[in-house]
Amino acid sequence: MDLDSWLKEAKIVIEPLEAELIALNCLAPMGADRSWLVTHGDLPLDGTMEMDEMVARRMGGEPLAYVLGTKWFYGRKFVVNRDVLIPRPETESLIELVKTLDLPLRPRFLDVGTGSGCIGITLALEYPQSYVMATDLSTRALDMASSNDVIHEGRVDLLQSNLLRDLELEEDEKHFDVVVANLPYVSHDWEWIDEQALGYEPSKALFAHNNGLSMYQRFFKEIGHYEKAGKLWIDYVVIEADPCQHEALIKMAEKAALRFVKKDGFGLMFEDGWRYWWDEQTQDFVHKPQEVLDWELEHGVVHWLPEEVEREKRLGDW
Ligand SMILES: C[S@@+](CC[C@H](N)C(=O)[O-])C[C@H]1O[C@@H](n2cnc3c(N)ncnc32)[C@H](O)[C@@H]1O
Repeated sequence: MDLDSWLKEAKIVIEPLEAELIALNCLAPMGADRSWLVTHGDLPLDGTMEMDEMVARRMGGEPLAYVLGTKWFYGRKFVVNRDVLIPRPETESLIELVKTLDLPLRPRFLDVGTGSGCIGITLALEYPQSYVMATDLSTRALDMASSNDVIHEGRVDLLQSNLLRDLELEEDEKHFDVVVANLPYVSHDWEWIDEQALGYEPSKALFAHNNGLSMYQRFFKEIGHYEKAGKLWIDYVVIEADPCQHEALIKMAEKAALRFVKKDGFGLMFEDGWRYWWDEQTQDFVHKPQEVLDWELEHGVVHWLPEEVEREKRLGDW
């Protein structure tokens, strides 16, 4: 059988573009691209078993990304298997939200629930001088993230952690400019969800209780707790959720002193409402809500001093 005949048959049973992508995937070692497929239609195929199997898997409803073993995210290719959620186009809005921020030269990012690693690795590549820590509860997901990290320059620190609970941060590691999280937020109660289509992906990467909000509930609680205890110092939090959950999440975040800044598609951005301030009397940093600090500055209780500004800058530049 030649390539043209194989494509003709495959295009009857699956989407034409998908048939071409499967052929391209299997013929990649020969340098195939889409125009190559057109000019090599008479290429005799030694065996078509691998390509036929991929078509059969697709016909059975398996997502194309798992069949091909790859998915593009923010212009880069990531390897995926059934241990990780397939990166979604709507998640790219989280990267766009981060890019609207005026960040220091060497920003520090924390990606919670990294899955394939697509968010953390993209941030590491978009901000070449950044430090990125990425966590997941699933060791299998971390293995996949690690493979992607190796493919994409290997700049991300991967760590197993149940949300923030297992983070053991040294004093000089507690500050993150942005914490990004795309946690499970799909509710089993949503009638518009095609659970069969999602059945190939790990359910622990997708579903959450309490109308899909339970994971973010825990996440915000932990952030509030860690910030108060001085275990973590965050400037911004960027999360993904269904737009129907945004209002509830904004209220939930407020309880952790996180103020809503803006949204973009499925993405929500919050600003930390707590600030570190250099206390002249104790000669140490104190952690206080932004409103308190604003009031103290206005009433002359504390003052901006060049030395403090300098120190703030240095901390912000870690
Ligand atoms: C919606 S997926 C997002 C994956 C990836 N960040 C992305 O955007 O494609 C959620 C991820 O959170 C992880 N996760 C679920 N529960 C967790 C927990 N308690 N602590 C840390 N990660 C968790 C899942 O294993 C999964 O990889």
